Amino acid sequence: MGILDTGIRNAKNVRNYMFGPGSIQSLPKLLQAPRQNRDQRVGFFIDEFFKNNASILNNLAIESGDHVVFVPTEKEPTTDQIDSYLSAIREKNLNISAIVGMGGGITLDVAKAVANLLTNPGKAADYQGWDLVKNPAVYKIGIPTISGTGAEATRTCVMTNTKTGVKLGMNSDFTVYDQIILDSDLTSTVSRDQYFWTGMDTYVHCIEALAGSYRNAIGDAFSREAVNLCQQVFLSEDMMTSEAREKLMVASYLGGCAIATSYVGVVHPFSAGLSVVLGLHHCVSNCIVMRAVEEFYPEPYAEFWKMVEKQNIHIPEGVCRGLKDEEFDRLYASTIVHEKPLTNALGPNFGKILTREKVKETFLKM
Ligand SMILES: [Fe+2]
Repeated sequence: MGILDTGIRNAKNVRNYMFGPGSIQSLPKLLQAPRQNRDQRVGFFIDEFFKNNASILNNLAIESGDHVVFVPTEKEPTTDQIDSYLSAIREKNLNISAIVGMGGGITLDVAKAVANLLTNPGKAADYQGWDLVKNPAVYKIGIPTISGTGAEATRTCVMTNTKTGVKLGMNSDFTVYDQIILDSDLTSTVSRDQYFWTGMDTYVHCIEALAGSYRNAIGDAFSREAVNLCQQVFLSEDMMTSEAREKLMVASYLGGCAIATSYVGVVHPFSAGLSVVLGLHHCVSNCIVMRAVEEFYPEPYAEFWKMVEKQNIHIPEGVCRGLKDEEFDRLYASTIVHEKPLTNALGPNFGKILTREKVKETFLKM
């Protein structure tokens, strides 16, 4: 199979990024301009993980009258949830001049969606799709506290439509953060398993992109460096030294930039199946799928399991054993629906390779 054209011509990046340990302390200064008028308020969307963490919250310079929401992360966001965040702001009649999102992929995405809806009429579901957002969002700052999803860099914010069950983001240049703060001090308290699973999201994205047919020089460049940094982090003695955490934060950002001009491959569609049918979170699902993809990605497969062993990480096993036929049917349907990534990895006749039987067999290897 030859190189295919992604059709992507004009990619948007984050406008400004601040980096380095302790850089979060610059947040109050960044918020000076949006706070110029007395009635202007900042909306903070913060991962609930930090709810009782005074030393982190004190850095944010939250003022009385600001709107603060602690975002639950047990489940991935829904359109109804986003709408209810908007209603709460509208009920208080607040003049929100900036949005700050601080947390993992879920929280960063929630903040992006709210910022879009503050300047666009209607409901969250109206903007699920491509380039449906008409007006620029409110100025927004993203502060990742775990590395790997690339949500700090991407032009989407993933949410599940409460009515239709469709998981789709607001893909728009207006969704991209105006400013991000890459402060690796913030990732020091993440659990080791979660740190690994999430970090691997960027590794998996990039090995899938580099093995695919839809290619271009810029996507390849971002992906290659993200993979290089992941190798340095996860093949080192300790993946969580301050140096390693800084590198992984950069890998996540570059991996997010890579997504803008490339496609994933076989792992993400299978991973989506696990999320939709079994409710497993995205990042751990990717790692589970890595058990079953040796034939598609032999070298990354070997490297991935070397990293798992080196860092002594737990990857769940046997998650599809004992499922009923009806559940395997749903797993098949929710995997095979991802045409673009599967074409990227296996060509336009991917359905002939990934037969119903083959897909079931693959899930059983997990
Ligand atoms: Fe991913």
